[in-house]
Amino acid sequence: MANASGLFTPTVPTVRRRFSPPLGIYRSGFWFSDGVSRRTVCSSSTQGAEKLSPSGSRVPRLAGKGCKLVGCGSAVPTVQISNDDLSKIVDTSDEWISVRTGIRNRRILSRKDSLIDLAAEAAKKALQMAEVDPDDVDLVLLCTSTPEDLFGSAPQIQKALGCKNNPLAYDITAACSGFILGLVSAACHIRGGGFNNVLVIGADALSRYVDWTDRGSCILFGDAAGAVLVQACNSEEDGLFAFDMHSDGEGQRHLKAGIKENETDKEPGTNGSLVGLLPKGSAYSCIQMNGKEVFRFAVRAVPQSIESALEKAGLTGSSIDWLLLHQANQRIIDAVATRLDVPYERVISNLANYGNTSAASIPLALDEAVRSGKVQAGHTIATAGFGAGLTWGSAIVRWG
Ligand code: ACO
Repeated sequence: MANASGLFTPTVPTVRRRFSPPLGIYRSGFWFSDGVSRRTVCSSSTQGAEKLSPSGSRVPRLAGKGCKLVGCGSAVPTVQISNDDLSKIVDTSDEWISVRTGIRNRRILSRKDSLIDLAAEAAKKALQMAEVDPDDVDLVLLCTSTPEDLFGSAPQIQKALGCKNNPLAYDITAACSGFILGLVSAACHIRGGGFNNVLVIGADALSRYVDWTDRGSCILFGDAAGAVLVQACNSEEDGLFAFDMHSDGEGQRHLKAGIKENETDKEPGTNGSLVGLLPKGSAYSCIQMNGKEVFRFAVRAVPQSIESALEKAGLTGSSIDWLLLHQANQRIIDAVATRLDVPYERVISNLANYGNTSAASIPLALDEAVRSGKVQAGHTIATAGFGAGLTWGSAIVRWG
């Protein structure tokens, strides 16, 4: 929201929900033994059966099903662009980019490459790690803001994986918060919807919407895909301890890639222009970003969101094993870690190699951390996404 001086100050909530009704997604129509139809609350921040958290504190839990993260995978394009490469097309330098952002390289999808292939590769690796057959997947959530079909690309991934049982597959559009929203959605589908194996894929090719003449934004982004297999389990094993999610459309003006009218449509006789109908053949503009405002929003909103989720989980910043933020800027990561009192050694960061890969950044960094042995079964991770929308959210999860 704009304040008196016109500066953007997002409406970041304080820990206001402690005793208020639960945040969550409801699914009605469940009948219980007493014959009363009740809503199932898909949030671990609500009333229900209780269990001990890893810290030993009591965490409100839902009766019934839980969910756990049992496999991960990732894939990146082969084409690498360094800061020095970028300095040949815009007025910038390796020193400026690395000091201001921490980024040194990024991967870019070439014209012949497909984001769907990249996403499918990441998903296959996650299934292999989880030892789950594609035929046993019953939901594919593709978190992307750059689908290859306006109507969504998730069913194409279902096809590429060869899932024979026609599982439900759909896209979730929430830019850099997409993976967190997908993770929470997966948990809700499992806890309240009877799903068993949910693939959550974060995949984006923002390079297709970058203005390569804008040095303020083109240095930030890269393309990638990452995936996590979320599996149903009993409530004692539940690995999603708490979450916290928000959006604020007021801040959209600071980060957007809006629809634009195709100039040729204004000419008489071209598509849709004849009788003053709404323009057809629209396209999206390049990413337009006010970096300073997005930066301010992130360092303010993200720690508050994580603190809120940690409180719901009965944990503190110093009691988690890993902090895994959306990889946008090392200065944002460092600021959030300092505010939460998480030491440097417990912060996961790989953006030096990949830049900001939007919805892919969290599962990509998680996959590298798991495969390198950093993150191990039983570890607690505080993770958060933030970005366009504006949207932001966090989740406290256990790996494995
Ligand atoms: N190379 C050299 N100089 C540059 C560059 C560049 N690539 N970019 C900007 N500058 C210049 C500016 O022109 C300005 O010069 P001036 O002082 O002469 O006017 C100076 O450097 C400072 O520019 P700022 O924009 O103030 O630099 P800042 O320190 O804010 O860093 C940055 C810019 C890196 C973009 C930072 O604001 C940032 O990371 N913001 C967050 C952006 C983000 O994370 N966006 C993605 C969100 S996720 C999603 O949903 C897509």
